[in-house]
Amino acid sequence: MADVLEEVESHKSPIIRLIDVEIGYKAAEPLVKIPNLEVYPGEIVAIAGPSGVGKTTLLRTIAGLIRPISGKLEVCGQVSPFKPGKGVLGYVPQRLGLIRHTSVMHNVMIGANAGHNKSFWSLLPSSLAKKHALESIDSMGLSDKLNEPIRRLSGGQQRRVATARTLAQKPSLIMADEFLSELDEETMNMVLKEVTDYVRKSGAALLVVEHDISRAKSMADRLLVIDDGRVNPFITEATAMEVKI
Ligand SMILES: Nc1ncnc2c1ncn2[C@@H]1O[C@H](COP(=O)(O)OP(=O)(O)OP(=O)(O)O)[C@@H](O)[C@H]1O
Ligand SMILES: [Mg+2]
Repeated sequence: MADVLEEVESHKSPIIRLIDVEIGYKAAEPLVKIPNLEVYPGEIVAIAGPSGVGKTTLLRTIAGLIRPISGKLEVCGQVSPFKPGKGVLGYVPQRLGLIRHTSVMHNVMIGANAGHNKSFWSLLPSSLAKKHALESIDSMGLSDKLNEPIRRLSGGQQRRVATARTLAQKPSLIMADEFLSELDEETMNMVLKEVTDYVRKSGAALLVVEHDISRAKSMADRLLVIDDGRVNPFITEATAMEVKI
């Protein structure tokens, strides 16, 4: 049975595939060079490295917001430059991108509606988007803040709204940039469990930037360290394989 499962696993297509990709803002000065990276359904991969090394730039490149300088980038079966289907990619940006004067519910409904417009969900009644929004707000422990404008929330609460917005979308790939910052340990564990459960159950993948190396190792199946010791740092697979959730 184990052999059969392994066989099935090995035939899964990667959600993310990078081959000899250079990323950055100027062709002459790439920030990071990635020889080879594949991320599979249900996998959690953490990215760590010093400030300014290019972690956010890497997420934004995989999200299709910046084009790679060179190399081949494939996300959810599409080759860059791609236009991902609505709701397929979930992004929790470092600078959250919330609408500050509107409510928690309004912000999370943006994610839920994006997800709802995907082919399968669009066949279902739109009240389902509302259900997904309420469920993900609840999973982030924010049910009592439903109608609160974002600007009146703490930093950690705002971060949880951004995570709820992404979960409500039911994406195939979540890219989360320091999404556990500003959270106390109990809240952090709760948020991490919800996101991890979603990834494991749905077969989505999670690519997470995490500056705290020990936290990165404990949450991820693999840790990629971007080393800024060189002009074109390489991403290397570190020892995170030893810790599995
Ligand atoms: N829009 C931009 N145009 C040009 N350069 C940029 C742009 N955004 C970021 N940079 C530069 O690219 C480099 C990498 O930035 P990036 O935000 O990816 O770093 P990071 O690893 O995420 O850092 P941090 O841990 O502080 O968030 C930095 O030197 C930054 O100044
Ligand atoms: Mg960053």
